[in-house]
Amino acid sequence: MNNTQAFISANKERFLEELIDLLKIPSVSADTKFSKDVRETASLVAKRLKEAGAENVEICETAGHPIVYGEKLIDDSLPTILVYGHYDVQPADPIDLWTNPAFEPVIKTTEIHPEGAIFARGSCDDKGQMYMHVKAFEAMMNANELPCNVKFMIEGEEEVGSENLGVFVKNNHERLIADVILVSDTGILANDVPSITTGLRGLSYVEVEVTGPNRDLHSGLYGGCVANPINILAKMIASLHDDDNKITIPGFYDKVVDLSENERAEMAKAPFSKAAYCKALDIDEVMGEDGYSTMERGSIRPTLDVNGIWGGYTGEGAKTVIASKAYAKISMRLVPDQDPVEITNLFLNHFESIAPEGTTVKVTPHHGGEPAVTPTDSIGYNAASMAYEKTFEKKPIPVRSGGSIPIVAMFEKELGLKSILMGFGLDSDAIHSPDEHFGLFNFYKGIETIPYFYSYYTELVKS
Ligand code: BES
Ligand code: MN
Ligand code: MN
Repeated sequence: MNNTQAFISANKERFLEELIDLLKIPSVSADTKFSKDVRETASLVAKRLKEAGAENVEICETAGHPIVYGEKLIDDSLPTILVYGHYDVQPADPIDLWTNPAFEPVIKTTEIHPEGAIFARGSCDDKGQMYMHVKAFEAMMNANELPCNVKFMIEGEEEVGSENLGVFVKNNHERLIADVILVSDTGILANDVPSITTGLRGLSYVEVEVTGPNRDLHSGLYGGCVANPINILAKMIASLHDDDNKITIPGFYDKVVDLSENERAEMAKAPFSKAAYCKALDIDEVMGEDGYSTMERGSIRPTLDVNGIWGGYTGEGAKTVIASKAYAKISMRLVPDQDPVEITNLFLNHFESIAPEGTTVKVTPHHGGEPAVTPTDSIGYNAASMAYEKTFEKKPIPVRSGGSIPIVAMFEKELGLKSILMGFGLDSDAIHSPDEHFGLFNFYKGIETIPYFYSYYTELVKS
């Protein structure tokens, strides 16, 4: 791998410039206003894959945004790695809170990233991490050191639920045959504490609408006499957690797989400072389900959170009004073996049942996804562990993450393949938030580490 690493060192500046070009295109998948930009991003990714040495590069149309596919098959007796990533990004809103515009990348140093970080929407999630794979591949190709076959599948709808990728996977079993899936769309604990993600939570996401009277009313004439949908919605939402911060939906915890005391003790070994955690968020105390640590609450336990709530008058000054309707968007993060469809139904039945007389409730499900866990005794995990140990000079810790990548469970179901989650971001990189960034240390470390995964994986399969 020496020539590969030499090629990486010699081309660092160009790699970064290319990433900056990619980050300038606002590939927001959720907003049709950006459809052209999403397409342009797909074209650029395809172009870069081709230049890096991939063959059969294709922009595959879907009912939504396209998927970029490419491959380099050198020998069918060698293993095949299927690399998955996404080129779409979250909306930049609220744009006023960005220090620099979201699609005008800048490099600045921070306390955590003294060697600099690139600030832009998608820098960490996931353009920066996806691009590490393109550059690692380019380096192996140039050095003539690609040790196995590789396929790339880079989608444009991860941030909106990957529904069309699901269809693509179902229809392309043959083309996607591989031995392992490799994904960089998660993180490490810290730049001096490498870790490998061994679990992702599932997701159930619903929108609720509470209707009271058939029109907005004068709050002096009608207040206190009819159900106020906003008051009621607030009360209904508050009732979804009890005093121990457990979720009150009947049956919600029935299928939750509890970790053994042994597993929990293992988890507790990962470094965590409550003081530093609070300080970074400017809070004086953490909050969550009784009986669990912050690390556990954020990974192995299911949660329910309101993501947005609105209704009534929110303009300037005061308007005395009782609104006819109130709304909220609610997400539930799920753990094995909770099923998103089942949980959505439990929520729906419960929410309807607690609506008081004088109101009606409508629950609309949005996209969801199943949780996933990966074993730590597989060839893929061991290869990843060796690769991190090589470049970080420390053995990585297995960590279950709180985030969701719904397609990972789908890969397992449809292709029978486990995903190795080799992420390089940090929780503090502000993904989905204003001022998202990705450390240059992390970007380059990713490019350096990936080729070792390829070679260790190939070695371990052969032996
Ligand atoms: N890359 C993230 C998920 C992630 C981030 C997992 C950090 C672990 C650590 C992904 O792009 C994402 O944002 N997923 C969404 C779900 C999706 C259906 C919109 C999420 O987790 O909210
Ligand atoms: Mn992502
Ligand atoms: Mn994301």
